[in-house]
Amino acid sequence: MTPLLRQLFDHHSSTYTYIIGINNSALIIDPVKENVPQYLQLLKELGLSLAMVLDTHVHADHITGSGVLQLETGCEVGSPKESAACCGSFVFEHKTELEIGGLKFQCLFTPGHTNDSYCFYFENPGWVFTGDTLFIRGTGRTDFQNGSPDTLYESLHKTLLTLPLSTVVYPGHDYKGMTSSTIEEEKRNNPRLLITDKDDFIDHMNNLKLADPKMMDIAVPANLKLGL
Ligand SMILES: [Fe+2]
Repeated sequence: MTPLLRQLFDHHSSTYTYIIGINNSALIIDPVKENVPQYLQLLKELGLSLAMVLDTHVHADHITGSGVLQLETGCEVGSPKESAACCGSFVFEHKTELEIGGLKFQCLFTPGHTNDSYCFYFENPGWVFTGDTLFIRGTGRTDFQNGSPDTLYESLHKTLLTLPLSTVVYPGHDYKGMTSSTIEEEKRNNPRLLITDKDDFIDHMNNLKLADPKMMDIAVPANLKLGL
């Protein structure tokens, strides 16, 4: 059976949430708390029952809907081994194989944006959900939540860029209206991936001078307990 994929956009935080459905089961990646009613309605319309929710990391710009979804549907919530967040129903680590409705996928530990960042890789049909590790023509920032440009460089070059070139990249955010890319397209065109020297990359990331996200002081503590 061909899996279904829905990409939903949160306009307040420019966050992408993904619903993957197969054999009547669904997985949601990076749900936004305010949009939970929309997800539940869509799942109902698609005839899917929510089996699992995953966050790519503890977010600083929105509150996760994982806790509410667990309360509403009884779904499982996965937490990375490296995370300080509580209350998940199971723990995963680098290379953990998970499965939804018979569709297998792999958890890839890709720290750097935060120290608990993961990507979720579906070898078949060839998708990777990159959270804030890799954006279309960009990457997540590394200047808070134990971020590190050094580890982000390693995660990008040693983990993500070793995936097959045709793998479709689905990012955690986009600020310019882009929706998806591929590993090959990013390798060729992403300005941050074109900085091949690690020290230059670290210098570049340390000099971005970005303002803190507006929601940070509320979102991070809430997300350490599934947004509840
Ligand atoms: Fe983030």
